[in-house]
Amino acid sequence: MGMSSTDDIIIRRLGPDDVDAFRRIRLEALRLNPTAFASTFEDWARFDDGEWLRRLTDNPAFAVLDGAEPVALMGYVRERSSNARHRATVVMVYVREVMRGAGFAKRLLDVLTRHARAQGIGQLELGVNSQNEPARRLYEREGYTVIGCIPAATIVDGVAMDEVLMMRRID
Ligand SMILES: CC(C)(COP(=O)(O)OP(=O)(O)OC[C@H]1O[C@@H](n2cnc3c(N)ncnc32)[C@H](O)[C@@H]1OP(=O)(O)O)[C@@H](O)C(=O)NCCC(=O)NCCS
Repeated sequence: MGMSSTDDIIIRRLGPDDVDAFRRIRLEALRLNPTAFASTFEDWARFDDGEWLRRLTDNPAFAVLDGAEPVALMGYVRERSSNARHRATVVMVYVREVMRGAGFAKRLLDVLTRHARAQGIGQLELGVNSQNEPARRLYEREGYTVIGCIPAATIVDGVAMDEVLMMRRID
């Protein structure tokens, strides 16, 4: 048995058997950080088991697991149209607050990026709330550049929020 809990930390792709862990960490993210995502807690809380499974298996999702406990999550959604298959969007980026500032977001993004590259994806794109400084710093550190801005991309409790679009070539 390990002397510290960090011995049990692993980062890996989630599979169909991880649907309960996926649901826990995704709903935690939406509940605690409602301005960070276009979806709301209520949007996802109403999914049935089949929809949760589809969300996990149609596109890859990756997690940091502390034993059986998911503490961080991210995924990507690949473009399905033939002429855009080289593109994917990074989604669901979340690290539990007590785990932040220790490099888990970077390590998870590294695993995701290696997976995407192995699938033949050549560029990763994402959108981030313009006021979300920690996330913007993360993506800039990891080589993402700003390619645009969508004004009023989301409206949270009546407040319009701009979204910064970023991308990184990975080929
Ligand atoms: C954005 C988010 C995922 C970043 O997670 P994180 O695990 O803290 O990210 P990292 O640890 O890789 O980097 C965060 C900070 O820790 C520092 N850090 C990175 N690796 C480190 C290490 N090994 N040791 C100490 N510090 C480290 C980084 O320099 C960075 O510092 P900064 O505050 O100056 O930017 C997290 O804040 C989060 O979940 N926010 C809420 C949801 C959200 O906004 N999602 C993004 C939607 S687009």
